[in-house]
Amino acid sequence: MMRVQRRLKIGIVGCGAIGGGIARYIRKRLKKDCQLTGLYDIEYGKAERLRRELRLRGVEKSSLKSLIQRCDLMIEAVNSLSTRSIIYEALARRRDVIAMSVGKLLRTPGLFRVARKHHCHLLLPSGAVAGIDAIKAAALGRIRQIRLTTRKPLESFIHNPYLKEQGFELACIKGETVLFDGDVATCVKFFPQNINVAATIALASGAQDKMRVRIVTSPDYKNNSHEIEVIGDFGEITTLTENIVCPENPKTSYLAVLSAIQTLRQFCQRTYIGT
Ligand SMILES: NC(=O)c1ccc[n+]([C@@H]2O[C@H](COP(=O)([O-])OP(=O)(O)OC[C@H]3O[C@@H](n4cnc5c(N)ncnc54)[C@H](O)[C@@H]3O)[C@@H](O)[C@H]2O)c1
Repeated sequence: MMRVQRRLKIGIVGCGAIGGGIARYIRKRLKKDCQLTGLYDIEYGKAERLRRELRLRGVEKSSLKSLIQRCDLMIEAVNSLSTRSIIYEALARRRDVIAMSVGKLLRTPGLFRVARKHHCHLLLPSGAVAGIDAIKAAALGRIRQIRLTTRKPLESFIHNPYLKEQGFELACIKGETVLFDGDVATCVKFFPQNINVAATIALASGAQDKMRVRIVTSPDYKNNSHEIEVIGDFGEITTLTENIVCPENPKTSYLAVLSAIQTLRQFCQRTYIGT
């Protein structure tokens, strides 16, 4: 007898650059594997606009609780202090989760335990960088040093309270300027919306204590770039990713949206290449 596979029901929380990009892709290219059953955004109008644009009928858009109830897999793409509790809610109800706000998960090993306890997946896409696959493999041996240099345009740092406190006047920056040089935990704390990649590398390598992060800006920078250097028993890795930013959110690289879509595709098709 032929087995008919049911489409995976997807709920998206956060209808901004990433959530919107994933929803459009599901609608156009993943219809065979996935069905959008929920869109939720704290700004109701954003979910509604997306629902209308994609002509989605019967898609839940009003409450997180019912979105979780109606989906098999929840995609978290919010910029919020409640990210952790949103992910927890889904895992506790045995939903698989793709999480984008990786910076928020760095100090939350409990969420991975909740996922294991409830036999569900907590998937973290590689985001805006290249080389996470190799870093995970290298982590099976000894990693001696990791260095991440992130370069972003000035606009990415508007309204950052830490920079104000440190006396940086973005308008007065004329050339290449190092805004931060230090450890991952501090970096994620003070640049929560700019440096998810640092958290992804830290989690993938399990070598947070060997890692240093530099954040550099300049009025000449137009795009985001991330340079990763890793030294370990395996040898050395250097990757440089030069990203085009999303028009909807200049803090977010387009590659991050694509990496989330690819994670979803692989999960639907049960085929994991280079992960
Ligand atoms: N993993 C990576 O490499 C990577 C790369 C870029 C961005 N990110 C992260 O992904 C997340 C989404 O990024 P984005 O560019 O789509 O942001 P965005 O600002 O474009 O969209 C975020 C959306 O979340 C909504 N929102 C905020 N709080 C909410 C809540 N409590 N419940 C529901 N909706 C809420 C906002 O209204 C907004 O529409 C951010 O946390 C960002 O830091 C991760």
